[in-house]
Amino acid sequence: MDTITPAQFWNERYEKSSPETSGRPGLALAQFASPLTPGHALELGCAKGDDAIWLARQGWHVTAVDISSVVLGYASTNAGRAGMSEQIRFEEHDLAISCPSGAFDLVTASFLHSPQNWPRSAVLSRAAEAVRPGGHILIVGHGSRAPWSSSPEDTRFPSAEDTLTEMGLDVAAWKRLCVCPITRTGHGPDGQTATVTDNIIFLQRLS
Ligand SMILES: C[S@@+](CC[C@H](N)C(=O)[O-])C[C@H]1O[C@@H](n2cnc3c(N)ncnc32)[C@H](O)[C@@H]1O
Repeated sequence: MDTITPAQFWNERYEKSSPETSGRPGLALAQFASPLTPGHALELGCAKGDDAIWLARQGWHVTAVDISSVVLGYASTNAGRAGMSEQIRFEEHDLAISCPSGAFDLVTASFLHSPQNWPRSAVLSRAAEAVRPGGHILIVGHGSRAPWSSSPEDTRFPSAEDTLTEMGLDVAAWKRLCVCPITRTGHGPDGQTATVTDNIIFLQRLS
C-alpha cells in the first residue's frame, strides 16, 4: 500500500527541483502536432509547462493539467515569462479521479507515467472521450528505461499496441496515424546522452 498520496509524491519530487526548464517541447509533440490546425488542446501531466507553452506559441488555447500544485506553480511562472499566460489555463487534477470537462481538438499526454499504482489506461481512455470528432490524441510513453532514470532497473513499459488495447477504444471510431516505437537521443540531467525508445500513439477521431 502506498504510504503517501500521489499528489504528495509528486509535490515532494518537484520541491527538490527548480522551476527551470529546457524551454523546448517534446520532440514527438513538435513532430506530430506541428501540421495540425490550432484549436483547443488538453495536456495531461504538463509538469513545468514546456509543451503547453510550445502549443500556445503555435496558436493553441491550452488546458494543462497536473496533479502537483508545486509544479503547476512553476508552469504558471514559466508561461508568464513566455508571455503565454492568456493562452494557457492550468488546472490541478488527479487524473485518476477527475479530468477537465469539455471537448478538445487535441489531447496530448507525454510520459504520463507514475511509479505509483494507478489506472493509466483508464485515464487515457477517458481523456480520449474528450477529443472532438476530427480531433487528435497523441500519447507519448517511455518504451525503454534511460540509464539515468530513478525507476528500478527491471522496469518494463507497455508497448504502444498494448496500451491502445488496454484503452479499449472503439476501433471504428479512430484512424490510426501512428502506433509504434520510435528511437531518439535522450539527454540526462547531467548532460549524459543515450538512445532511448518512445512509444507513440497518434490517432484521429472519426466520429
Ligand atoms: C514523468 S512526468 C512527465 C512530464 C511532461 N509531460 C514531460 O513530457 O516531461 C509525469 C507528470 O505527470 C504528473 N502526474 C502523475 N500522476 C498524475 C495524476 N494522477 N494526475 C495528474 N497528473 C499526474 C506528474 O506530476 C508529472 O508532472
